[in-house]
Amino acid sequence: MTTREMQDEIIRLKKEKDICILVHAYISHDVWEVADYVGDSYGLSKQAASAPQQNVLMCGVRFMAETCKILSPEKKVYLSHPDAGCPMAEQIDRELIEAYKEKNPDTTVVAYINTTADLKTVCDVCVTSASALKIVNNIENKKILFIPDRNLGGWIKEKCPDKEIELMQGGCPSHALLRKEDVERMKAKYPNAQVLVHPESRKEVVDLADYVGSTTGIMKFAKESDNKEFIIGTENSIVQHLQMDCPEKRFYELSKDCVCRNMKLTTLADVYNFVKYGEAEEILMEEDVRLKALAPINKMLELGG
Ligand code: 13P
Ligand code: SF4
Repeated sequence: MTTREMQDEIIRLKKEKDICILVHAYISHDVWEVADYVGDSYGLSKQAASAPQQNVLMCGVRFMAETCKILSPEKKVYLSHPDAGCPMAEQIDRELIEAYKEKNPDTTVVAYINTTADLKTVCDVCVTSASALKIVNNIENKKILFIPDRNLGGWIKEKCPDKEIELMQGGCPSHALLRKEDVERMKAKYPNAQVLVHPESRKEVVDLADYVGSTTGIMKFAKESDNKEFIIGTENSIVQHLQMDCPEKRFYELSKDCVCRNMKLTTLADVYNFVKYGEAEEILMEEDVRLKALAPINKMLELGG
């Protein structure tokens, strides 16, 4: 079967079976081409709540499928690959935050959406990289605990000096591989290129960037910029997508190492096997967990606009 034949069959079957295919920006381009929606974590959350179909396939990682189920309990939600987790989502457990809240009842716990549903049950507000700055600014309380991404939290802390933001130890192992030496090396090689990085990157990298934003933010910036060359400091699939969308511009990987192995697990064949044979893990959740995890996600949608 060719890629095109497989894609045509997926598009035919998803309509016949009332399936919505949501795809995170880090998934490969052949999967993008059969999607109902492609976006960053914030866009996917909003789309999950409004998709009209009864069945949703989330092509991404587990916390994204969980978020979809939390927002749409009446839908059947499936994860594209059963092993696709996000290591950052597992770094902090619920008991630690429960103990923290007992000691610090006047602190608002802000959780990056890259967290498990179980952890979200004890958090006050969720954020994504695209919405974090706006949401933290919109929180009335000065005292904030930001979990789990220390890099994203540190970036927000710098931008919100009037808040007292406490951080914990956590972060994305793929973005942590990006170093300032990579920026220096690539800038020396491509002096006219703009450096666009994700805020999950280290401060030493963010400080040297021309633009810092979510995956969708990076793509929008590159498309709208008059510049012709860009060094991309996020998961390397974004280089491939941008090169397809803007063939007249040039995109370079900040480092060959910035690859999310979990996002790479989902292939077009997984999508095909789901729409054809129903082969994918359905996300199931206890209703009390769902309702408790829904509160910080709703707060995110309310404060994020
Ligand atoms: P965004 O989707 O918010 O850009 O975050 C990237 C990411 O690492 C998702 O896991
Ligand atoms: Fe998690 Fe990092 Fe992969 Fe995003 S890129 S899913 S934060 S490991």
